[in-house]
Amino acid sequence: MHPARQDHPARLGLAARLRAAGSVFAEDEADLLLDAGDGDAVRLRSLVQRRLGGEPLEYVLGWAAFDGHRIRVTPGVFVPRARTGVVVAQAAALLHRYDRVVDLCCGAGAIAVALLERVGALDLVASDVDPDAVDVAAENIGDRGIVVAGDLFAALPARFRGTVDVIAVNAPYVPTDAVATMPTEARDHEHRVALDGGPDGLDLHRRIAAGAGEWLRPGGSLVIEVSELQADASAAAFAAHDFATRIERDDAVDGTCVVASLPA
Ligand SMILES: C[S@@+](CC[C@H](N)C(=O)[O-])C[C@H]1O[C@@H](n2cnc3c(N)ncnc32)[C@H](O)[C@@H]1O
Repeated sequence: MHPARQDHPARLGLAARLRAAGSVFAEDEADLLLDAGDGDAVRLRSLVQRRLGGEPLEYVLGWAAFDGHRIRVTPGVFVPRARTGVVVAQAAALLHRYDRVVDLCCGAGAIAVALLERVGALDLVASDVDPDAVDVAAENIGDRGIVVAGDLFAALPARFRGTVDVIAVNAPYVPTDAVATMPTEARDHEHRVALDGGPDGLDLHRRIAAGAGEWLRPGGSLVIEVSELQADASAAAFAAHDFATRIERDDAVDGTCVVASLPA
């Protein structure tokens, strides 16, 4: 931040309004909104009104921070969460440059971007069923991969069948009844298809466990985010399809994932 801005009345006033509206990190939000306003008072007023109206900060700014990068997000598309860093770290540890990778249920493509940044060039496909997610993922990934629309594996190019080194996934895993208890910023602003994982939250995990073997190469792995409570059940779904499984936890990002590998 510019030193002159620290105690600037506009910043302090904006932070006070944001705090009164419930913002926990009001000064940080004020700085981000002032930056986004870029000296244009009309633009700043519109951004502040949206934020005070309860819209998630990331939609107002147009980006979310993830794994050290700015990921463009648009209203309705799932906002990448820090905890998904556990998927990135586990997938990156299994990858080499030019490997074949799928970011399944890619949302804005945050996992794909983070893997490209960590590993380097990859033969990458990202896919999602939500056209809004596909549009913004295509922007984020650019010419570093291809982005396709469709239901799980049905969207993947045939040339990927049986050849994928790693499938990285953050699919919806919130049990249907629990969606109503999520924070309003998620429940009221993110598309339901990004959240609802069915009665026990693991409908998508079971479908992915049933379908992944056809797309991975022998010895290939799938890394999938899950909650700590659901991790054993998710791992069991993969074990039922002949995957060797382990559960990985990263307390630093408060994230959990299952790593499921095919025999070589
Ligand atoms: C929890 S969000 C995660 C998005 C992204 N992977 C991330 O971590 O930021 C789940 C995503 O799965 C997508 N999705 C839900 N059902 C799907 C399906 N049957 N096939 C493909 N994508 C699906 C949603 O549209 C949403 O973008």
